[in-house]
Amino acid sequence: MSARPPAPAAAADPRARLAELLARLAAADAAYHRDDAPIMDDAAYDALRREAESLRARHPELAATLDQVGAAPAGAFGKLRHRLPMLSLDNVFEPADFAEFCASIRRFLGLGAAPLAFVAEPKIDGLSISLTYENRRFARGATRGDGAEGEDVTENLRTLRELPATLPEDAPDFIEIRGEVYMTKADFVALNQGQSRQFANPRNAAAGSLRQLDPAITAARRLSLFAYARGAASAAVGETHWDYLATLRRWGFPVNPLAERVSEAGAEAFQRAVAERRAGLDYDIDGVVYKIDDLALQERLGFAGRAPRWAVAWKFPAERALTTLRAIDIQVGRTGALTPRARLDPVNVGGVLVSHATLHNEDEIARKDVRIGDTVELQRAGDVIPQILRALPERRPADSAPFVFPDHCPACGALAIRPAGEVVRRCTGGLSCPAQVVERLIHFCARAAFDIEGMGERTVEQFHALGWLLSPADIFTLRDREAAIAALEGWGEVSARKLVAAIEARRRVPLARFIFALGIRRIGEQNAKLLARHYSSYATWRQQMEQAGVIGSDARLELGSISGIGPSIAEELAGFFAEPHNRDLLDRLVPMLTIEDEVAAEGGAFAGKTIVFTGTLETLTRPEAKARAEALGAKVTESVSKKTDFVVVGAEAGSKAAKAASLGVTILSEAEFRDLAGL
Ligand code: IVH
Repeated sequence: MSARPPAPAAAADPRARLAELLARLAAADAAYHRDDAPIMDDAAYDALRREAESLRARHPELAATLDQVGAAPAGAFGKLRHRLPMLSLDNVFEPADFAEFCASIRRFLGLGAAPLAFVAEPKIDGLSISLTYENRRFARGATRGDGAEGEDVTENLRTLRELPATLPEDAPDFIEIRGEVYMTKADFVALNQGQSRQFANPRNAAAGSLRQLDPAITAARRLSLFAYARGAASAAVGETHWDYLATLRRWGFPVNPLAERVSEAGAEAFQRAVAERRAGLDYDIDGVVYKIDDLALQERLGFAGRAPRWAVAWKFPAERALTTLRAIDIQVGRTGALTPRARLDPVNVGGVLVSHATLHNEDEIARKDVRIGDTVELQRAGDVIPQILRALPERRPADSAPFVFPDHCPACGALAIRPAGEVVRRCTGGLSCPAQVVERLIHFCARAAFDIEGMGERTVEQFHALGWLLSPADIFTLRDREAAIAALEGWGEVSARKLVAAIEARRRVPLARFIFALGIRRIGEQNAKLLARHYSSYATWRQQMEQAGVIGSDARLELGSISGIGPSIAEELAGFFAEPHNRDLLDRLVPMLTIEDEVAAEGGAFAGKTIVFTGTLETLTRPEAKARAEALGAKVTESVSKKTDFVVVGAEAGSKAAKAASLGVTILSEAEFRDLAGL
């Protein structure tokens, strides 16, 4: 239990890091569930999981990799091609839509007014799988994947108690049987109990459990199965879908007991009857699937796009309810995002007690004019977070007022800004905001920042919890706690000494790394380097950033003129320095460090040269021209002397141009300057 997981590698390759995290989480899951011998405690497990989630937050393109926390990363399983594609279903919601679906079938088949006969089955909320039997033995099984090709989860499927290992004599030599793997509500609750990992719903739990690299883990999670559809087969099985289901049942497959033959006219009543039983079922369903019973008609109808013409999913409507909005809580995420959350009088929405709902963002609240005290209409669809659809102004209390979104962070009191064009307002408190501090400290110590060996997520969290690490400056006082660190479980003298040595080795830090480490939004490694090159020293940077808080100031113009630094980045920087907490933090931290100046860029016509600008430039402001020259390694001065290398002459230049001419200094027009500066 006390073994420390190795410090997280800097996420140079976030995909690889995420895969590593998921593998470690899976190992922890295996140890916990299969061996009943945990290899890490909940805090460590949560830390890994949080890192994985924050990676996902920063890299939305990796989202799918983490969809099922605790499951294997994408690509971990072999691929299996389905003989026949696995399709999806078109949805209908209203009787009229269903009637239109039936009419289109009749038109397609040229059936006139003949009524259609269906088999209706609950639509199970799990994950679809294809089971292949060869010579009446279960040979392999795959997830749906992209419909053409899925993941080979054969060994995991073998652990399902309900999956027949063999089929009787009358089964064809080759057959693909499709169905749904799901987790019962009871098994879901049992699985979620007593562990720090919480699956959001039975479907995620089923998917996460099936996609385990170790089949023993799948076996330990109780997964269930319903068989309901045909894939490829070497011989036909029955003439109707109803026969087919009966055969599956006889072969030993679980077939949903609520399945019934229904006429077109009976569908609506069946829909209602299943909806009434829904809450009492031990598995989640989200509608009813209606399938043309006659398999010959199914063949004729075939497919349109990715869905069959012979089946449709009639979904249940999203559940709605009215309740009172008691408060709008503003939550601060680890990246400083302020998100509004509605606190409600608890209300039952389709069998689930709801006391919170999402309000998305500031604009959404304003657009819907949702006010505290309002009666609001809620909607809960499937497993998504309940949403507030609208407020009922007719029931509004007389004294109600529009909601004012805070412009200060509720966690730390710092200014919360919303850059132009964005929907999210963010706290500028950064490292001094308790809601963000752990994440920020981890970033501060990470490889691309201060690169402190041994100060990984786990350690930062542990020290933070002990109250030793509340701000970056505290890192550099940890040497006073060496003995206390050594005494912690899992540490010892050697590790403590190593950590302190690693910290001490980083008191000297290049300016670019220092800037990056502060975790200012939009200041990644690249922008930190641009800033460091431009301002050269910490003192200059700091002074300029504080002045850049005034829009229109020379410092602000200069900042904006650095190629690569746009207005929104400038605003983030100005915001950071406008916040007194951040300035205090720097005042405490910087004296503990030696911040190395960034040496000016080499090469180019202006490197190491002295330039004077005179007269009015037409295409550039003075600060912009100055910034550009400096970025190229030049020194910009005010007066012309023998040491001056270039004088850039604008309109109505006066004595400086004359002096340059008399001293033989090279004179450049604005256009020549632009050329040489690569503008
Ligand atoms: S029949 C050719 N029957 O719904 C279509 N699908 O939205 C074969 N599903 O991917 C599907 N319960 O995972 C069918 N009784 C049922 C179902 C069902 C759930 C799922 C299935 C499919 C999805 C389509």
